[in-house]
Parts: sequence; structure tokens; C-alpha cells
Amino acid sequence: MFSFQNSFKGLRKTTTKIYLDYAATTPVDPRVVKAMLPYFTGKFGNTMSLHSFGQEAKQALEESREQVSNLMGAKPNEIIFTSSATESNNLVLKGIAFANRNKGNHIIISPIEHPCIMESAKWLEKQGFEITRLNVDKYGQVNPNDVKEAIKKETLLVSIIHATNEIGTIQPIEKIGKICKEKGVYFHTDAVQSFGKIPIDVNKMNIDLLSASSHKMYGPKGVACLYVRKGVKIEPILHGGGQESGFRSSTVNVPGIVGFAKACEIAKKEMGKESRCLTRLRNKLIKGVLKNIKGAHLNGHPTKRLPNNVNFWFEFVEGESMVIQLDLLGIAASTGSACSSAKLEPSHVLLAIGLRPEQAHGSLRLTLGRWTKEREINYVLKVLPEIIKKLRRISPFKRTWK
Ligand SMILES: Cc1ncc(COP(=O)(O)O)c(C=O)c1O
Repeated sequence: MFSFQNSFKGLRKTTTKIYLDYAATTPVDPRVVKAMLPYFTGKFGNTMSLHSFGQEAKQALEESREQVSNLMGAKPNEIIFTSSATESNNLVLKGIAFANRNKGNHIIISPIEHPCIMESAKWLEKQGFEITRLNVDKYGQVNPNDVKEAIKKETLLVSIIHATNEIGTIQPIEKIGKICKEKGVYFHTDAVQSFGKIPIDVNKMNIDLLSASSHKMYGPKGVACLYVRKGVKIEPILHGGGQESGFRSSTVNVPGIVGFAKACEIAKKEMGKESRCLTRLRNKLIKGVLKNIKGAHLNGHPTKRLPNNVNFWFEFVEGESMVIQLDLLGIAASTGSACSSAKLEPSHVLLAIGLRPEQAHGSLRLTLGRWTKEREINYVLKVLPEIIKKLRRISPFKRTWK
């Protein structure tokens, strides 16, 4: 019997594990770990305590707030720390809707948002709010004119993802923000995948609210933030001791926040060089796959995409099979976002850009990061054509590919 794994035995020996799923989560940078450690033991105070332990923790919190705000051109007092971007995004949609419902009941989103926006919007619909889901083009871009046309007098908020976690397409955020500003509507962007990877300036880009998450940028899990422009009316969803200026009650996760801030400091210094290096590797991978694998198609925009994102769909191959075969060779990849890849449903993002369900099922996402090496990309380019060829041979579609 033909054994898939055996045919790669020789290659497998030459490599250790290769992580190409940085969009799902990133390892914590050792410099971040070092910055966090003292806050687990000696500097463990509660930021609400009046004694010196508490004040030491409070000082670390405020210094961290400054570092995080710095990476997006905001003021420190416009940053609310949360436990995840899922929480930040829930807070935006529900908090804006309920704080401003005397003004209207309409919210605009795109069809390619992360499930935490999509599901929050669905929940708000059940509470009587009206949601407009815009269309996107074949690259996954929102047309700013569609935003303009969809805004009406009842509109409270427009929420458009900055760069999609699945296909990496970057949205014309500055133009959309300008329209919202002119129309007097709040503008939120989910910048989880872009923050720390490409420059963001909330003032230049006309952003009123922005979500970012530490574990997508070499910081620890369980910590994120929401930028809220001064003057924006938002209702908290967690009530309690009044931490984070009353917007997010809960004992503050000081070690996590210190780590997030350190990750932002590193990103500010290294983003330019890192993004140039990743873009080169990304382009090499895209070019190599499209050249060497027949029936391979790039998902997302060819140039307006995150420096680390690669996403294809392959004719007559199933995404999950590719991920499993790559994993057997020590390569960690994904079919879509980490949250939805376990569902076995075609990705809502790929359907929104016009793929048919069977095409969407043939997708593969490879996301690069700080420690991706050229030899790892070369290795993927070497084994992927062989994997696709063999999967096609056993494909129920029975199409023969040379
Ligand atoms: C675009 C986007 N938004 C939100 C989230 C949720 O982030 P968190 O894991 O911090 O809840 C993710 C995570 O994959 C994401 O990629």
C-alpha cells in the first residue's frame, strides 16, 4: 500500500518543526518574557491598592498604557486594557449600541469580519438593532463608496476589519474613516492582525475605536486593548470595581499588560525591517507556489495584503488534508482562521470573495513571522507540490493532474 508519509521520509529528517501559523498566535518574544517576570513575583501588587506594592503595579500599568498608545499615535488615557480582542470587539459593538441608542439603531459591518464581530452583530440584531453587511470585491476589499451609501441618519457605528485574518487583504481604512468623520458616525477597526505589523495612526486614519491583541504580536495571551477616542460614548459591559476608568472592571493583569507593552515597544523599533523581510519571503512563497503548482490560486489582494499572509485555494484538493499532510512533515499551517478551522464549514471570508463552497474547502493559509527562515520557505516550496499531486491522485473528484 502506498504510504504518504514514507515518500517524504528523507526530507523530514532534514528539518525540525516549521511554524507557519503566526496569524493564529505567536510565540512570546524572549525579551517580552524577561520584562514580564518581575511582575509575577516581587512586583505582584494590585493596582487598586494604596500601599507601595499597589503603587508600583499602578506605575507599571500607566507606563505600559503609554507604550501601547505610542504604537498607534493615541493618548495614553484613550487605551482600555481588556482580556482579549474578542472582549474588545464585543465591548465596541454592544457598548456603542447601548450607549447611543437614543440616537439610532443601525450598525454597518463587512462580511469578512472575525466571528467575534459577526456574532456580536447577530446578537444585537436579536435585541432590535439593524445591521448592514456590506459587500467586498474579489480581493476582499470594501468599497468606501458603499460605506457612504449605507450610512443613514440612524447609523451609530461602522466597523471594518483593518486586515483580514484569513486572506490578509488590507482595507482602505483612511478613506472609510474620513467618510465616517464627515457623516458624524463612529468608526471602529479590528486591527488585531495589522497592529505591530504595519504602521497605524488613529488620527491620520480617522479611527475612533481600535482593537488589538497581544498574542498576535509576540506578547502573552489573555491581554488586549481597545482604543477609544476621547469623547466617544461607550457603555461598559463588565461592571464592578471601576478599573480602567470604569470602562472595564476587573483586577488588572499587570504582567500581561507589561508584556503587551514590551511587544509594542519592540514592534515600533523593528516593524520596518521585519515587514520588508517578511514581504520578500511572502512573495517568494506566492510566486513559487503559483509557478510550480497547476490549479493554485491566490486568495486576497496581490499587493495590498499583510506582509506575513499567504492564502491559496487549490483545485481538487481539500484544505484539511493539506494541513494534516504538512503537519506530518513538521509544518504547521491552517485552512483559515484558528477559530473557524475546527468547524469544517466553508470560510465565510472565502465565500464573501466569491469562491464556491468546494473551492473554499481547498484553501490553505500560511502565515509567516519573526522567526521564519528562508530555508523553511524553500522546504515548503519543495514538499507542497508533491503533497498536492498525491492528494489529487486520491481525490474523489477523479481529475488527473500531471
Ligand atoms: C482579526 C481578529 N479579530 C479578533 C480576534 C480575536 O482575538 P483574541 O484571540 O484576542 O480574542 C482574532 C483572533 O484570531 C483575529 O484574528
